[in-house]
Amino acid sequence: MSSAARASDASVAEGGAAPIPGLHLRFGELSMSGATMPWRARGAGPNYAGWMIGTRHSYDRVADRYADELGDELRGKPLDRGLLEVFAELAGGGVVADVGCGPGHVAAYLAARGVRMIGMDLSPAMCGVARTSVAVGAADMTALPVRAQSLVGLVCLYAVIHLDRQQRAAAYAEFARVLRPGGHALIAFHTSDTDFPVGAAKTLTDWWGHQVDLTFRYLDPSAESEALATAGLVPVARLDRAPHPDIEHPSRRSYLLVRRRP
Ligand SMILES: C[S@@+](CC[C@H](N)C(=O)[O-])C[C@H]1O[C@@H](n2cnc3c(N)ncnc32)[C@H](O)[C@@H]1O
Repeated sequence: MSSAARASDASVAEGGAAPIPGLHLRFGELSMSGATMPWRARGAGPNYAGWMIGTRHSYDRVADRYADELGDELRGKPLDRGLLEVFAELAGGGVVADVGCGPGHVAAYLAARGVRMIGMDLSPAMCGVARTSVAVGAADMTALPVRAQSLVGLVCLYAVIHLDRQQRAAAYAEFARVLRPGGHALIAFHTSDTDFPVGAAKTLTDWWGHQVDLTFRYLDPSAESEALATAGLVPVARLDRAPHPDIEHPSRRSYLLVRRRP
């Protein structure tokens, strides 16, 4: 192995996680300050950089509390666990990325089922609070630091809700780029709640007492399915579900399982 490859692996392996062979991950090259951005937001639109920094800083501020509140949430979500069991079976032996992984609980759940996982999140603080031995690094879903066709699977739960339509199209193209033909992706999002219908967007300026600047979008599953298909990710299955009472925000949700076109 070259020294460059060893350095790259070492940056991924921060936190003691084992390096993953076969992937070209360069988390160490990402700017954590927001002053410079050495990666390109492929096709995400002219205002993407400013938006992205605001979102990242917001999640940096709530990362600890988010991990405390939601890090154990799968315990109360049998349908999500069921989908993840299916996903683990579909993944076979290759590497799967949890994109927008937050505190890494989904990545940890899949890793515990034998899936070779990596986690990526826009917020370095989220990466820092991830309570998992899965390698987690800061990355933007519209410019993933991963070689084309190097993943057999990708999960992205409740993260594309922060991106507008153009940004989501860029993210879906990126998902298609990093997935092998035939690889699966599972994408989840809120669709509505009592105050916000499908298509609405909610802006949050305070979250658990922290100042934030976050937009949460309620997405239309049919439109997202079409956008994913445009990117080359064709529908396999869809689950629409009601909220689990007392466990999570009382929103309706949708889970889209898609497959990278061969
Ligand atoms: C609502 S949280 C969901 C976290 C986790 N997937 C879960 O299910 O709890 C949204 C996450 O998406 C991340 N995120 C937002 N925009 C992103 C982007 N462009 N690239 C990567 N992650 C992003 C945020 O930092 C945050 O951790």
